[in-house]
Amino acid sequence: MSFYDEVGGAPTFEKLVHEFYRGVAQDEPLRALYPEEDLGPAERRLRMFLEQYFGGPNAYTQERGHPRLRMRHAPYPVTLDMRDRWMRHMLAAMDTLDLDEGHAEAMKDYFLRAAHMLVNTDEHAGPAPEGRTTL
Ligand code: HEM
Repeated sequence: MSFYDEVGGAPTFEKLVHEFYRGVAQDEPLRALYPEEDLGPAERRLRMFLEQYFGGPNAYTQERGHPRLRMRHAPYPVTLDMRDRWMRHMLAAMDTLDLDEGHAEAMKDYFLRAAHMLVNTDEHAGPAPEGRTTL
């Protein structure tokens, strides 16, 4: 059985990302990074991605191609503060699920690592000079 099945399959991921985006919607600085007025499509992309990552259907790749998350986040200034906001909403969303301790730990561990990997902007550095890339 995949991790996806073990934690309850589609309804679990639907609830997780729905609760997560409810949090994002109320978090002004984080919300401001999302280009679309409607968070529905972003919610759907994150759901498909997570379902695929945890061993469920691979609709994400069929629709979007290789995840390349770091590249896809490059247009958005992900600071440590934004990472922490993102993480806070994800942990709150996880708390609404009935995960056992082992699954909750594994999921949290993945989110911590993934969110940290996506930090691409140093909030204390000021604007990057022309031509300097921020990793
Ligand atoms: C660290 C803080 C993070 C911030 C501030 C952030 C922000 C964003 C923003 C603004 C978008 C564009 C919205 C859209 O889909 O139209 C996005 C897309 C996305 N993010 Fe994040 N994100 C973060 C972390 C993560 C993490 C940890 C994951 C995965 C575990 C993730 C997965 C995705 C996916 C799958 C998409 C859609 C990519 C696509 O197919 O275009 N993000 N994110």
